[in-house]
Amino acid sequence: MEKVIGADELASGERRSVIVDDIPALAVRVDDTIYLIEDVCSHDGQPLADGPLQDTSITCARHGARFDLETGAAQCMPATKGIRVFDVEIRDGDVWAGLSKTPKPATVPSSDGTPSDSTAAQSDDAADSESDSTAEEEAPQESVGPGGQRVTGTSPSTESDYLEALRQVIDPELFINIVDLGLIYAIEQDEENPRRIKIDMTLTSPACPAGPQLVQQSKMALERLHDVDEAAINMVMSPPWSPERMTDEARDQLGIF
Ligand code: FES
Repeated sequence: MEKVIGADELASGERRSVIVDDIPALAVRVDDTIYLIEDVCSHDGQPLADGPLQDTSITCARHGARFDLETGAAQCMPATKGIRVFDVEIRDGDVWAGLSKTPKPATVPSSDGTPSDSTAAQSDDAADSESDSTAEEEAPQESVGPGGQRVTGTSPSTESDYLEALRQVIDPELFINIVDLGLIYAIEQDEENPRRIKIDMTLTSPACPAGPQLVQQSKMALERLHDVDEAAINMVMSPPWSPERMTDEARDQLGIF
């Protein structure tokens, strides 16, 4: 193993590019857990450093493949295989990482001096039983949906949850998510079946070759929500999309002022 970064250099939700075993890697902190993943998308080599994070998944900003931070498993197309993850330990306030056959993330010890959970992480039994009990308490509705692993939750999803899910879908040519591009026109629950969500969405042009991919990924992103069984995507071309529909951030990203 080698020392890669100080544990207190990363706040929750932050990431840092590092090199481990001469491999480009990404240290990501989610709450008190630090994950280390290979920083190369298995689909076509894009660094994952700029990809959106959701819970313990990271999405490639190029074509939208998503990977589990803990296992490296690919969770959606276009990636068909996972990425490597590294074994992580916290030693005296530093993050150490290396390749291992049984890689695990590490928990940062609390600032009041509570013993590091990294020692617990080194104990398979303790870590397993802890994560099992946590999973039972926090994720009673977890299941596997048609689009891959379900996003866990206990309260009904709201429109902002639907939009957050759709932000995981990235336009493969502009590298901007479809919500910030302004491609989503309407979202509503089916009056007779609240587990069915209806979406009106458009494309930047009627001939956009990414259309089928965006529709499929939008459907999968919504159907991963714990209380959505079906997402019906209705493609509309009127009113036609225009750059004014983009958020300021998206316009900045494309250099449109
Ligand atoms: S390069 Fe990452 S999804 Fe294509």
